[in-house]
Amino acid sequence: MDIRSLGYIVIESNDLENWRHFACDVLGMMLNRELSDKESLYLKLDDRPFRILVRSGEAERFAAAGWQLAGPDAFDAALAELDQDDIPWLPGSEAECAARRVHGFASLRDPSGNLCEIYHGTVHDHTPFLSPMGVSEFVTGEMGLGHIVLPAAQYEDTYRFYTSLLGFRLSDTMRLGPISLSFLHCNPRHHSVALMGSDVPSGLVHFMIEMGTLNDVGYTLDRVHAADLHLSASLGRHPNDQMTSFYVRSPAGFDVEVGYGGIQVDDSTWTTAEITVASLWGHKGLGQ
Ligand SMILES: [Fe+2]
Repeated sequence: MDIRSLGYIVIESNDLENWRHFACDVLGMMLNRELSDKESLYLKLDDRPFRILVRSGEAERFAAAGWQLAGPDAFDAALAELDQDDIPWLPGSEAECAARRVHGFASLRDPSGNLCEIYHGTVHDHTPFLSPMGVSEFVTGEMGLGHIVLPAAQYEDTYRFYTSLLGFRLSDTMRLGPISLSFLHCNPRHHSVALMGSDVPSGLVHFMIEMGTLNDVGYTLDRVHAADLHLSASLGRHPNDQMTSFYVRSPAGFDVEVGYGGIQVDDSTWTTAEITVASLWGHKGLGQ
């Protein structure tokens, strides 16, 4: 499958105002006022109509990852592959496509139960991005919105689903005691998805957003402290993607990693590795 990037994520919440405050006043994302209403927050990180959709729901949880395919031909080929492998999928209705500003999508579950939406065709609204908190930029473009770390209790099957079926390539691996992690890429971002071989009640370990400068991350960290939010991990640096980042607890209970300076992967020269520490320095509190 020709997945190009993590195009969007969908989160469910029973307190949209809390999410608006967290996403806009603290993280510096921009609310798309044209699209948002009482039932949904459309959060902009760049020139796309949205990158994060928070919709009204009963629980606080991660709902779905939207994986963008190259175009309509790649979408048709992807559906044919699913049929060939007897993997059940549901077509997105016209209303559901309109809500996501896409030409077409299909939803399916990975072997650990995580909901994937494979889609094609972004419908742009051409609203420029302007951070309400002065974040210079979120690093997106061809690398997508950032990365997600998914719970994968069915670890081996889920690994095969993302690599053999969806076409992700392995960047590197890590072991945390009995728990295995795989970091997978589909574009130059070191990983767009990582799989962690355990269960997580909120449906997500964390998602990561990358900012344009180290100062953007520092100012955001100051706003996290000022808002008295829970810092899940102090500033630190990962050995694999080299991201300098901190982790803050989101209203959904999972963490958001706010980072700067991640490396990019070149498939023509990349070699896989096992990393044996989660952080080179810092990240005090990570994994607790
Ligand atoms: Fe991360």
